[in-house]
Amino acid sequence: MDEQRLMNFVGKAVGDIGTLLNGALVVIGDRLGLYRAMADGQSITPAQLAEKTGTTTRYLHEWLNAQVGGGYVTYEGNGHYSLPAEYAVALTDESSPACVIGGYELALAAVHSTDRLTEAFRTGAGIGWGEHHEDLYPGCERFFGPSYRNFIGSEWIPSLNGVDAALNAGASVADIGCGLGVSTVAMAKSYPAATFVGFDQHDASVELARVRASEAGLADRVSFEVGTARDFPGGYDLITVCDALHDMGDPAGAAAHARQALRPGGTLMVVEPLAGDSIEQNQNPVSTAYYAFSNFLCTPSSLSQEGAMALGAQAGEARLTAILHGAGFSSVRRAAETSLNMVLEAKV
Ligand SMILES: C[S@@+](CC[C@H](N)C(=O)[O-])C[C@H]1O[C@@H](n2cnc3c(N)ncnc32)[C@H](O)[C@@H]1O
Repeated sequence: MDEQRLMNFVGKAVGDIGTLLNGALVVIGDRLGLYRAMADGQSITPAQLAEKTGTTTRYLHEWLNAQVGGGYVTYEGNGHYSLPAEYAVALTDESSPACVIGGYELALAAVHSTDRLTEAFRTGAGIGWGEHHEDLYPGCERFFGPSYRNFIGSEWIPSLNGVDAALNAGASVADIGCGLGVSTVAMAKSYPAATFVGFDQHDASVELARVRASEAGLADRVSFEVGTARDFPGGYDLITVCDALHDMGDPAGAAAHARQALRPGGTLMVVEPLAGDSIEQNQNPVSTAYYAFSNFLCTPSSLSQEGAMALGAQAGEARLTAILHGAGFSSVRRAAETSLNMVLEAKV
């Protein structure tokens, strides 16, 4: 027994206990507008922050001290605290691709399924995407939104051969596994001549997606339908599957159906979490977060469906490419990537 190694691990484990609880405290800070109230970078006391946000001083004192411990807030001395400008972007600026605040909402909603997941580990049963806590769906939208809004129309679609021009000329697009439609709406804003339909098997998500399209003033050319990846109708120039293929029970069947649903010369764009092909390559903070999400959400979702392939959220380019080739696409390549996503292009 290496006593030092033991104590080093105990230190890390206690830190992780703090991290787990601090994640929930971040959601509280977000809900109450505490980070937004500190986003100007000015130093502030708990009483001033309480006054500004309609909250109470004693709780904010404790919250701010926990934020200092977690490395989110700086203690300036003399009872004053500040939020560094860079951290304010990640925690409050949802127009920035660096904004990760939705990830906390998503994670906290996911852990409501802990009891059910414990039982699922014993039985092997799945948990359907629609069976989680209600905060999961807007949390997912909010986590992926910053990347989609910043990259889908400006980098990802332009990285595909011939697709930017086709969409500018009025192409027809289907977004499969669209959730609340954040990717669909982002594409529609970038391509005003194109028409879009999002399909998702989760009816409550589709209802909210319709509200999002209408709020964005896009309901005339963006629609949403309940449908699965294996039964939506055909006739599209571009089909997109954004952070959803690995959640499906039968991603191979979904890819084969997408190929049939594309017009000649059409393109499938698959956006997946960035990952290497093996656990050796997936030992970094992004993989740590995605393997954890995969345990709670992606793997149980797939296991709840026919096929139950359970690719997991770190499937890696080699497995995804093999699935797309197996579906009969003539060429498959990695067209783009960001720090969180890889974008695969598959041509009919
Ligand atoms: C991680 S969420 C991503 C949602 C959306 N694309 C986004 O990025 O916000 C995965 C989505 O895939 C949907 N999904 C899972 N399996 C599906 C299937 N077989 N057919 C259609 N949608 C499916 C889920 O209902 C869920 O909305």
